Amino acid sequence: MGATFSVNDPHYASYPREIAEQEYKNSEERVRPSNPKYEMPDNIADLERLETQHYLMRYLWQSNFEAPVDQVLKSSDAKVLDVGCGHGTWIFELAQEYPNAQFTGIDTESFLPKRESSDNIKFLEHDLQHGLPFADNTFDFVHMRFLTQYISEKTWEDVIVKELVRVAKPGGWIEIIEFDYPHYSAGPKTRKFTKAAMEFLASKGFNGLLSLKLPSFLKATGQVGDIRKHDKSIALGKWAGKVGEFAIQDMSLLVTELRAELSSFMNISEAEYDQLLEDYKQEVEKFKSFFKTHRFFTQKVNVDEKTGMPIL
Ligand SMILES: C[S@@+](CC[C@H](N)C(=O)[O-])C[C@H]1O[C@@H](n2cnc3c(N)ncnc32)[C@H](O)[C@@H]1O
Repeated sequence: MGATFSVNDPHYASYPREIAEQEYKNSEERVRPSNPKYEMPDNIADLERLETQHYLMRYLWQSNFEAPVDQVLKSSDAKVLDVGCGHGTWIFELAQEYPNAQFTGIDTESFLPKRESSDNIKFLEHDLQHGLPFADNTFDFVHMRFLTQYISEKTWEDVIVKELVRVAKPGGWIEIIEFDYPHYSAGPKTRKFTKAAMEFLASKGFNGLLSLKLPSFLKATGQVGDIRKHDKSIALGKWAGKVGEFAIQDMSLLVTELRAELSSFMNISEAEYDQLLEDYKQEVEKFKSFFKTHRFFTQKVNVDEKTGMPIL
């Protein structure tokens, strides 16, 4: 079974601008945190893409996670896994905040952090498409953020989500954060871009709207309790101040990373692609565009060994 995205998907097809704007006005992100716990760095130009993204998310959510694991992480020997940890920015921060907990990050070789590690951090090179190299019921908290564009929908369903749940302890928490490729309040060039990106992902079996599927994948494991989901809209462009500036920089870097593959898929030259990127950057200002991120978190339940039924 391939990705099930269709250009007729109502979430994708030109979302009425008035609804999008109303939705955005109603959303709490419009209100900047008056007394933020987390600020964003001043100097955006020096940051790598994954760092930009990390600080943007931390600022918008005013937290690094949402599952209720704060007390557990304060206790000694709590175990945390970050799947597809990138440069490890999230882990480094948490390891400092929770010195008693043990952190493990896995990623493919090229992305592992070059920084000095501390005693409570381990990084492992591993391709998670082959499953996770840990025993059942190992971690108190399993975290995974922004891997939509790397893993096919089938692998998410057949391997990844099952593995996240398998390695979590009964009573442990699983949190997944993803964003949707389609933009809201999007102009014509933006729609052209996101449509191409969605179709490009779909051609590889990936789904740029994976957020619609994750709850059912989690539920299908039969080993998790209620799945809680919170959304944040992220405004793109200078019209939305520093957040928007960070967000459009992040998105532009992502679009640039995809240049070779996506321009070829769109059958346009790289110069035309770059022009489209410039048009997109102007258009998000004019249309006040935004996109959505989603946080899912759920608790692994105990399963009755005799019946195989979850003990709720
Ligand atoms: C967009 S980055 C997100 C990094 C980090 N989670 C964050 O939020 O800052 C996606 C990461 O997933 C990693 N990744 C992609 N495919 C992977 C795989 N098959 N196995 C392990 N890591 C993978 C990439 O190397 C990259 O570091």
